[in-house]
Amino acid sequence: MLRMPDLAAVAALTLALILAGGSARAVDPYQIYEQHCHKCHFEHGADLAMQKLRSVNGALQVARTGRPIGRLLRSHHGERMQAAESAALIELFASALRWGGVYEHRCMRCHERAVSFARTRLKLEDDRLVTHANGRDVEQFLATHGDASSAEIVTLLEMFRFQLRTSAGP
Ligand code: HEC
Ligand code: HEC
Repeated sequence: MLRMPDLAAVAALTLALILAGGSARAVDPYQIYEQHCHKCHFEHGADLAMQKLRSVNGALQVARTGRPIGRLLRSHHGERMQAAESAALIELFASALRWGGVYEHRCMRCHERAVSFARTRLKLEDDRLVTHANGRDVEQFLATHGDASSAEIVTLLEMFRFQLRTSAGP
């Protein structure tokens, strides 16, 4: 049976471990989007980027107004975010414009959202993307599955890697 001070110590230690674990983890841009944007924007982050943003000389802007996305994120409907969180979101949006909806176009007819697909079905093994189920090499598999061109396969592999790399874990 724990006495009160012990309980407090255990709680403090647990909190410290959670915080330490948290800082060691990647900032997950998909989670940040769900928390800060999805309540008003029903579309997911990559779709919002394709609908509302554009890249001009490598800088991400709101397509309608030319306003830098970083400025919008600093004050937008009262949403407050830390610098690392908006940086992670901006990286996701910029990446999504590069990916250009290949997955949505080629794969979503049969598969779930890309980020859930990548994080539940795929993993990295010796820097190769393979399936959890049977260690199948994804790049080789896509050569005969899903009808993507070789340029599209390069894009898909980059996207899956990004989604695995930015996962904050289960
Ligand atoms: C409380 C509701 C709300 C939240 C939360 C919210 N938005 Fe919006 N957003 C809106 C509304 C309403 C508009 C359309 C009117 C406007 O531009 O303010 C909009 C417009 C936008 C636009 C287009 C702006 C333009 O000028 O065309 C972008 C880009 C955008 N939101 C991104 C985001 C991102 C990224 C997040 C999360 C960090 C977010 N929003 C969170 C309500 C919200
Ligand atoms: C016409 C439907 C269809 C399309 C389009 C399609 N797939 Fe599949 N895919 C399947 C089926 C069915 C399976 C086998 C069952 C399963 O594992 O879900 C599968 C399996 C896979 C697997 C192996 C999953 C595992 O866990 O072993 C990967 C990886 C995959 N698909 C990726 C893709 C990608 C990337 C695209 C787009 C370029 C794509 N698929 C397009 C139907 C499709």
